Amino acid sequence: MKKACVIGWPIAHSRSPLIHNYWLKRYGIDAVYEKKAVEPKNVALFIANLAASEFIGCNVTIPHKEAAFQAVSKADEIAGRLGAVNTVYIKDGVVCGTNTDGEGFIASLRHAYPAFELKNKTAVIVGAGGAAKAIIGALLDEGVAKIGIINRTRERIHELQTQFGSGIYEISETNSNDTLKSCALLVNTTSMGMEGQPPLELEIQSLGPYALVADIVYTPLETAFLKKAKRQGNPVLDGLGMLLHQAVRGFELWFGVKPEVTAELHALIAGDVQKANKQ
Ligand code: ATR
Repeated sequence: MKKACVIGWPIAHSRSPLIHNYWLKRYGIDAVYEKKAVEPKNVALFIANLAASEFIGCNVTIPHKEAAFQAVSKADEIAGRLGAVNTVYIKDGVVCGTNTDGEGFIASLRHAYPAFELKNKTAVIVGAGGAAKAIIGALLDEGVAKIGIINRTRERIHELQTQFGSGIYEISETNSNDTLKSCALLVNTTSMGMEGQPPLELEIQSLGPYALVADIVYTPLETAFLKKAKRQGNPVLDGLGMLLHQAVRGFELWFGVKPEVTAELHALIAGDVQKANKQ
């Protein structure tokens, strides 16, 4: 029987098994998807040996995405630009890696707001870490013209400018209102607002009424940041959609079927997130 897994350290809270096993059942595929706790010191070996193992592929989560990028024999362009791999598969006996975080964000946005226009627009991103990079790359690929970055550590904004070029600019307190006024999309890519983390305190009154406000945090499903945006009438996008949509390509690569992110799957994972929050 075919087997795939998600590796991380720790891995207990990963929702990937729920997602992939839902799809395996829905499409009648005789396979299983497991969680596998892999210590940091064993990641390179685990990935290098994947082709000879019982697994046909794996997802990679925190803190192993960079190590996985180093360990695969072949990384595609998107993984290369991020220096991080979240999906590993075997092609012609070669261990290959890609990164689906950026496409997961775009697919989630398109699923929720099919008519939303990104081309030639301005976006504002809060954060400058791995998730920010994935989303910035994907937005530029979609034709977004300018991306303003807000981040605690300014040095990291400069690194993003070096990597992604002149479309990227730094948002400081002095130009933040002007930028927010003209942006079409505002995304929190940091962990601020997650259960147990400090909230994201950002003034958003100057946002235009149609600006879409997105959060990649999905615990809680509706962060205080999204609540605030909703209260002032802006459309919002929660982080659960990105989690579900980033899983699509791995499933397709391993099992040969492009799975659908159904309302039933959304409800299943939302229920699990809510149950965990109550504990
Ligand atoms: P990931 O790969 O998940 O994006 P990361 O690379 O550690 O994680 O990046 C986390 C991002 O959240 C960074 O932009 C970080 O800001 P710094 O670059 O200044 O570290 C931001 N972040 C996390 N916690 C924060 C906090 N309490 N206040 C401000 N920014 C925070």
